[in-house]
Amino acid sequence: MVEVQGLTKRFNNLTAVDGVSFAARPGEIFGLLGENGAGKTTTLRVLATVLAPTSGDAVVNGFSVTREAQKVRASIGFVSSDAGLYDRLTARENVAYFGRLHGLPGPTLTKRIDVLFAWLDLKDAADRRVGKFSKGMKQKVCIARALVHDPPVMLLDEPTAGLDVTAIHAVDEFILRAKREGKTIIFSSHIMSEVEKLCDRVAIIHHGSIIAAGTMDELMAKRERFEDVFLRLIGGRHQ
Ligand SMILES: Nc1ncnc2c1ncn2[C@@H]1O[C@H](COP(=O)(O)OP(=O)(O)OP(=O)(O)O)[C@@H](O)[C@H]1O
Ligand SMILES: [Mg+2]
Repeated sequence: MVEVQGLTKRFNNLTAVDGVSFAARPGEIFGLLGENGAGKTTTLRVLATVLAPTSGDAVVNGFSVTREAQKVRASIGFVSSDAGLYDRLTARENVAYFGRLHGLPGPTLTKRIDVLFAWLDLKDAADRRVGKFSKGMKQKVCIARALVHDPPVMLLDEPTAGLDVTAIHAVDEFILRAKREGKTIIFSSHIMSEVEKLCDRVAIIHHGSIIAAGTMDELMAKRERFEDVFLRLIGGRHQ
């Protein structure tokens, strides 16, 4: 469960996130849809306790991001699209390193990596150094790394950005599997069709504020009021 309550984040004079509130439940994929600069990454970074909010709070898996950051960190996996892997280590070594940081014992860790790599179709690449991996393979290693400790809450910041159709399909299937397992998943994107495909409910974030939220059907029903924003979000793809 993730419950965001009046979250605001200012950087000097710029209000990147402005009083954002929403809730996501276990077994749900909650979409955060917004243009570049809307405040998606900032919101997710606050939920991941990488940034402290200026005001407001969020409860993640029962823990407050402002008062119980350590417990929040143990409850989440945060996937973003900038890799930051160790090029000289193999895929397995990269993930195992994070697993040990989370205190996973050896046999559990080995089993967990095998499962994640099977789901992400990374088995054949497991023991190769990641330096020469394609972008899609690197992103899959990032996903395995972020989720090695099997956290109940997954924060996915544009996890499929820049991937090809096959890689997107593999990541989508992985996310849907996690949903079936009862994870609480927050998925950010600037692509409406991506959100429509995966998410149970969606919040549209614009200039740091949530301007609409609900199921995709509910949002479509409100379409007239938000049409100009929708068109910008769609970015000419359907024009
Ligand atoms: N560390 C920072 N210092 C100052 N301003 C920041 C910082 N991080 C983000 N911002 C600003 O906050 C606003 C929201 O940025 P954010 O990265 O959250 O948007 P986003 O929705 O993730 O966009 P994108 O689709 O481009 O990833 C932007 O105006 C951005 O320039
Ligand atoms: Mg972003």
